[in-house]
Amino acid sequence: MQLSVKPSTLPSTQTSCVVLALFDDQSLTRLAKQIDRKSGLQLSKILKRNDFKAKVGETFILHDLDKTHIERCLVLGLGAKDKFDPDACISALTGLASAARQLNLKKLTVDVEGLKPKGKDESWLASKIAECFSDVFYQYLTMKGDPKKHTVPMLQRIELMGTEKQIKALRQGVKLGQALAIGKSAAKDLGNAPSNVCTPNYLAKQGRSLARRYDRITTTVLDEKQMEKLGMGAFLSVSKGSDNPGKMIVMEYKGAAPSVKPHVIVGKGITFDSGGISLKGGAGMWEMIYDMCGAATVFGTLQTIAEVGPKMNVVAVMAAAENMPSARASKPGDIVTSMSGQTVEILNTDAEGRLVLCDALTFIEKFNPETVVDVATLTGACIVALGSQASAIFANDDAVANALIEAGEQTRDRAWRLPIWESYQPQINSAFADMQNIGGKEAGSITAACFLARFAKKYRWAHMDIAGTSFKWAGVKKGSTGRPVALLTEYLLSQEAGPI
Ligand code: BES
Ligand code: MN
Ligand code: ZN
Repeated sequence: MQLSVKPSTLPSTQTSCVVLALFDDQSLTRLAKQIDRKSGLQLSKILKRNDFKAKVGETFILHDLDKTHIERCLVLGLGAKDKFDPDACISALTGLASAARQLNLKKLTVDVEGLKPKGKDESWLASKIAECFSDVFYQYLTMKGDPKKHTVPMLQRIELMGTEKQIKALRQGVKLGQALAIGKSAAKDLGNAPSNVCTPNYLAKQGRSLARRYDRITTTVLDEKQMEKLGMGAFLSVSKGSDNPGKMIVMEYKGAAPSVKPHVIVGKGITFDSGGISLKGGAGMWEMIYDMCGAATVFGTLQTIAEVGPKMNVVAVMAAAENMPSARASKPGDIVTSMSGQTVEILNTDAEGRLVLCDALTFIEKFNPETVVDVATLTGACIVALGSQASAIFANDDAVANALIEAGEQTRDRAWRLPIWESYQPQINSAFADMQNIGGKEAGSITAACFLARFAKKYRWAHMDIAGTSFKWAGVKKGSTGRPVALLTEYLLSQEAGPI
């Protein structure tokens, strides 16, 4: 999908489809007025019939308006003017993209007048247009026998039309939005890939191929032998039950001098979480192909960053392993030593995410990070607490937490902070080891975060639980959402100027 920006004018040559925004008070935009006049008031006549209510995201199409060179005029409802906020704008854009998909349109010319919600600039709008269209047209077809049979024809071009004053910001937004579309789709592709394809080794290959595609990215992969040498007993206690060996995949984006401290993002990459010896129930177990969505999103975020090219350093780590029961698997009651030297009593092998992450969090100390954010489908309890609206944030630093929340608000890829007070820590104390990997019935997401906090004491750190936001499990709509690539990208770009 190509996006371009040009000044808003009445088309002088044949144009396939012009999009005009309309609030429910039926006030016409400048361009709509011109088109209406030119066509002998065809547009306003039809609107007067009041069949079109202009609800948010509603569309109707007019064909062959007289004397205008416009083959199709797609009117997009924006609802009430005073209620048109960023969320309404996103709903409207999603409605527009869905209509374009259903009508099988090849090219759209969008007049942006009216589309920008209160409090946002043109750059935000253009970026959201790219992101929404990419989301609506996304399909995961790799596993179809004949992908062509299922392919929805792609919208090939979107032209944005704005006033001279708006053009620069629109172009900036298009650039960011297209980068985001690429990274988000990559995250979805990885997330959706089934676990017989997407193994830790597959993720390692993807990491290496990212380094081949982008000059500024280098990738190194640690295998189990190397991890053993580093003393990553917690990580290996998870991967050892599987025939697919675990990998620690380190992708470095170098956009600034080596002396500039990097921001580090770490993703949980459990390519399948069966629960291990503490085996999960059969119903819905397939969903655990998504247990590597944290890894998928740090991958997609790094790709977005490489596309944008900021002058900063970012390290993305995928902690990739498969959690399986076998004769070699960890058993409840086993005690292992993490890379940090702290020992962990594994009381439930299904609490495996924190075990792979804790060693990754110790490993990345060597980068002397400015900030660290880990992203993980860590707990079912997080879905109970926040549903699929917000990712959970936990942090040992208020500025980092606030910057992440703000990035979520900006992008509408929202997140909400939960506490990791010291008073929760006793729940994971162990009689035999330094800690245990489960904290009882209460506050499951918090005790999981408290576990990670014990390994993140040497830097400013936040943990995001994305169990509820990173994938949908319902029927045909199921699939990876690419969240929180937008939030993470926004957060990282906000750090380009220097430490918060
Ligand atoms: N990957 C799961 C968490 C999860 C559940 C993510 C549902 C997405 C949807 C995690 O490894 C897990 O199994 N957590 C356990 C922890 C418990 C054993 C303390 C859980 O949430 O039940
Ligand atoms: Mn688990
Ligand atoms: Zn898991």
